[in-house]
Amino acid sequence: MNRRRLLTAARQKLRDNPDASLDSIALAAGVTRRTLYGHFSSRQALIAELTQEAGQALHEAFAAARIPGADPKQEAIRAALEPARDEAVAALRRGQHEGVFASHLPSPVLAQALEALMLALAEENTGYTWTDPTGEAAASVLDDAGQKLLFTEARTVNNFAATVVDDDELSLIWDLARWSPSAANGQPLRVLFVRTREGKEPLIPHLDEGNRAKTLGAPVVAVLAYDVDFHEQMPAVFPARGEMLRVAFADQIEKRESVAAYNSALQTGVFLLAVRAAGLAAGPMAGFNRGGVDEEFFAGTSWRSHLVVNIGHPGTDPWFPRLPRVSVVDAVAWA
Ligand SMILES: Cc1cc2nc3c(=O)[nH]c(=O)nc-3n(C[C@H](O)[C@H](O)[C@H](O)COP(=O)(O)O)c2cc1C
Repeated sequence: MNRRRLLTAARQKLRDNPDASLDSIALAAGVTRRTLYGHFSSRQALIAELTQEAGQALHEAFAAARIPGADPKQEAIRAALEPARDEAVAALRRGQHEGVFASHLPSPVLAQALEALMLALAEENTGYTWTDPTGEAAASVLDDAGQKLLFTEARTVNNFAATVVDDDELSLIWDLARWSPSAANGQPLRVLFVRTREGKEPLIPHLDEGNRAKTLGAPVVAVLAYDVDFHEQMPAVFPARGEMLRVAFADQIEKRESVAAYNSALQTGVFLLAVRAAGLAAGPMAGFNRGGVDEEFFAGTSWRSHLVVNIGHPGTDPWFPRLPRVSVVDAVAWA
């Protein structure tokens, strides 16, 4: 009884004045200081119990607001979230332990609040009170973090950490890069991922002296090439007129070379952004002997190398000082 009275008094007192003394709380509850200490060994213990109580009250409020079966859609979403619930609580608890998340509410309550937020968002979305029919409001501008990752803070890396880059990461790069535009969707870019030291060794002598050490230190090296026989795939990648294009290109090797070089360069820009989007850094290098690399890696094929790109995570002292960029005044004309 005294304990309940103490907690009620503490709630009121601390709400009015977060610095309220234990004496004033005991006084408000009509008990002695000694009685208060009989229930709570310290101010911290009292506040811990109040926090617990608040969490429980919230928990009950959420539960009460949920009438089973009242909204089958919401119930279905809750059922779908069920397997993730314990995981969410555990992740929140870990975050609270590590000081990343605020800890004034217990993790199960935070998890419920998150769930409720997701339901409210789903509700808004299906209820059309949130009008963004084309999805443009959500996706029209890359947020600040994305702009930094892909552009403003992305750097060309010259020294890589030993951190392994696995094949899933490399596959993601291609999964993103392949959406680059190209003329008639021709897509001449090809990639050879070299992942081992033995694989890199025959490459090194063909690189300019200054590009050798950093290439040896990179976890992965991508040799980018273009396929001069890209026209063979035109019927597959451009069904409407692909066969006509394939035939037109068939005896035009010089034209194919220039189309492939131009379009693979365009795809290469997107490839470099894809490396960054996959959370990795790139070090592109044109300083190498293309004939030598083709002889070594692509003899007897229709692939022609045009750029070598080191890929990995930045190591120590990974980049040269940032060089100036051409300003909008000098680079852009307006009509
Ligand atoms: C097509 C191309 C060829 C490059 N060739 C070399 C090279 O052979 N050796 C080298 O150290 N850096 C090379 N670079 C790196 C550039 O010097 C670097 O990307 C540029 O200075 C911008 O650096 P930042 O991204 O850190 O601002 C090349 C970059 C590109 C895109």
